[in-house]
Amino acid sequence: MWEAEAQRAHAEALARRLKLPVTGLAVDGYELLLVAAPSGLELRQTGEGAPGPVRVDFVRGRTGHRGRSGEGRGQPLARAVGLRKGRSPQVFDATAGLGGDAFVLASLGCRVLLLERSPVAAALLADGIERGLREPGTRPIVSLMELRCVDAIVFMRGLPVAACPDVVYLDPMFPHRTKRALVKKEMRMFRKLVGDDPDNLDLLAAARNCASFRVVVKRPARSGPLGGVLPNIEIKSPKTRYDVYVNRGYGSG
Ligand SMILES: C[S@@+](CC[C@H](N)C(=O)[O-])C[C@H]1O[C@@H](n2cnc3c(N)ncnc32)[C@H](O)[C@@H]1O
Repeated sequence: MWEAEAQRAHAEALARRLKLPVTGLAVDGYELLLVAAPSGLELRQTGEGAPGPVRVDFVRGRTGHRGRSGEGRGQPLARAVGLRKGRSPQVFDATAGLGGDAFVLASLGCRVLLLERSPVAAALLADGIERGLREPGTRPIVSLMELRCVDAIVFMRGLPVAACPDVVYLDPMFPHRTKRALVKKEMRMFRKLVGDDPDNLDLLAAARNCASFRVVVKRPARSGPLGGVLPNIEIKSPKTRYDVYVNRGYGSG
């Protein structure tokens, strides 16, 4: 759907490409809407108690703030991928989602290839990247980010060794089973869009075969490692743990 006439052509072209029905103001019967709004592409939920829209905003949003917060190379994510002075690994973010972690990595100087298999999530990301490139403050960071709408398992399995990255980063959807789990409303809406990631063990295996140096898996602090596969290193922060699977030490050339 579009919000103002100026976005109509964009909405219609996107609907054709994503093979989605296009709607004007009559939105009955749709739980989720992809809206071409003047401020960017948005995912919206309809109905009572719906959360606010989800949009990729590297310029102003929470994501943008995270990337520019100046936490720097000492932060847990930076340590997990092995950032050092003079070393900025090239990273595949194989579960790009809304690009938050990729933006932080790029803000620390890493080149990041974002892989996202949901065409709608990839469209939201592409829109955020486009706006980020137009803004002088975010352009140097966002220009380190490149997006492909692919299944990362298939993509990494077919990759020649010479094209493999230093690090593969994974943050698969985590099944929240308890009602008490404090899951942000926006995240619940995003989950409606992409579902859980039941093949995340195949993803871990493909990543471990692909990364030259290491695979980093983001986990909720109190959960076990992905599929029970023990990592070589754990880097802990209050809410999150990064499990690091080392293929080769950075020191070993
Ligand atoms: C929890 S979200 C990632 C959030 C992201 N780290 C961020 O900061 O916004 C997980 C995402 O990974 C994607 N995903 C899961 N498995 C994938 C695969 N095999 N290939 C590509 N994308 C995948 C899902 O579609 C979903 O968008």
